[in-house]
Amino acid sequence: MEFPVQTANPAKVETACLVVPVFKDGDLLPAAAKLDDASERLIGQLIEREDFDAKLGNVQMIPFAPGLNADRLLLVGLGERDKCQEAAFRKAVDAAFTTLATLPADDAAVAFTDVPVPDRHCDWKARMVAEAAHRAVYRFTEFKSEPGPTPKLDRVTLLVSEGGNAEAAREGARVGDGIGQGINAARTLGNLPGNVCTPRYLAGRAEQLAADSAGLLTAEILDEEALEALGAHSLLSVGRGSEEPSRLIVMKYQGAEDPGEAPHVLIGKGITFDSGGISLKPGEAMDEMKFDMCGAAGVFGAVSSVLTLKPKINLVAIVASAENMPDGRATKPGDIIKTLKGLSVEVLNTDAEGRLVLCDALTYAERFEPASVVDIATLTGACIIALGNHATGLLSNDDDLALDLLDAGETAWDRAWHLPLWDEYQEQLDSNFADLANIGGRPAGTITAGCFLSRFADKFPWAHLDIAGTAWQSGKQKGASGRPVSLLVQYLLDREADSRVETEDEA
Ligand code: BES
Ligand code: MN
Ligand code: ZN
Repeated sequence: MEFPVQTANPAKVETACLVVPVFKDGDLLPAAAKLDDASERLIGQLIEREDFDAKLGNVQMIPFAPGLNADRLLLVGLGERDKCQEAAFRKAVDAAFTTLATLPADDAAVAFTDVPVPDRHCDWKARMVAEAAHRAVYRFTEFKSEPGPTPKLDRVTLLVSEGGNAEAAREGARVGDGIGQGINAARTLGNLPGNVCTPRYLAGRAEQLAADSAGLLTAEILDEEALEALGAHSLLSVGRGSEEPSRLIVMKYQGAEDPGEAPHVLIGKGITFDSGGISLKPGEAMDEMKFDMCGAAGVFGAVSSVLTLKPKINLVAIVASAENMPDGRATKPGDIIKTLKGLSVEVLNTDAEGRLVLCDALTYAERFEPASVVDIATLTGACIIALGNHATGLLSNDDDLALDLLDAGETAWDRAWHLPLWDEYQEQLDSNFADLANIGGRPAGTITAGCFLSRFADKFPWAHLDIAGTAWQSGKQKGASGRPVSLLVQYLLDREADSRVETEDEA
């Protein structure tokens, strides 16, 4: 997708579809006013005659607009001016692109950077537009005999009014383009069925990414033999009941000028299907447990974006992947396993498997002497109960890191919410037979899962993102969301900015 930026008079712009946002009060923004002048007050009249209701998210296509060089005009409702904040802006942009994705045309020009959103500038709005364009043209039709029409849109011109910051719009669109690609890559991995997307499949994707990266990325795959030799028995215990062998996937990206600069580490939970194991899940919506690798998908998506945006940081991306199935050889409730760190774990519930693969990946991360470690996991149903489908759960052993992630989520509008990781919760993991149990009972299920992971994260600043409620949608819209790629990439871009400031301080 291309996102050129133009400051021309919108009435003169030649495009298949000109998109113009309008507030309910009828007071036209600069672009709309210019079009109104050129078109015998078309927009003003439509609003006055109540032929267009500028309610938030409403769209109206005007197939022939006099006085304009565009083939079509698409009006988009912004709703009330004083309620135009981030969520409203995004809703209007999404509505516009949902329509644009159905048009028989490959280009459009949009006037969204004019829209006043408190504390958000041209770069942010351009970025949201580029990201929305990618999300809107996404289709997952690989397994349909009749895939239906594919969106044609592949060129979106960002119109910036005079006095607007075209350079900022260009930069915002560049970032949004890179992130949008990563989001859609994550969605595809998430949407793939469990019989296709296995641990070995994910390993293959990593090797492919590395092969296509022109040397920017390397991939190393640890198979079961290597994991056994290493001592990653906790990770291996999860896949024991499956015919599909487990994998630890390690990707390295060196973007910092100093190759020795401490890397940031991302770790993704890659359970390619979570049946619960011997602690079998109920049948209802069990198909959705193919999405239990969405943490891994988010890591892959972030790596794709990083390969496009090339921030000057070092990054290690780890995916801990297994299929959790019941079988004669499967781990049983009561079994005690030895983790890579050496701690023993009593597996009281084989459905609390995510933490069992992640804990070994966390220990594995120690060898990189990381600047920070962030794990991303569809870890607990309790997180959906606590935060619903809007916020990702955030737990951390380092308040600065937690703040950096919260900030990144705000900027990216892919938000997280900080939950406490107080010592008081740790004792819920006490075991009569091993160093710790893998479950802490029903109260505070998301926090005790975080407590479990924290025992393996004592060597570095670490944070955990529980994306159980945000990684996919259920119901009619069933599908992976691509969250939290946007948050993760923003976090990494911010680290590049940080290290630039530090270098300047030293100089
Ligand atoms: N993958 C699930 C968590 C999950 C469930 C995410 C539903 C999204 C929707 C995880 O492996 C799991 O089963 N967790 C258990 C933990 C419990 C046994 C302590 C849960 O949340 O029920
Ligand atoms: Mn589970
Ligand atoms: Zn799971």
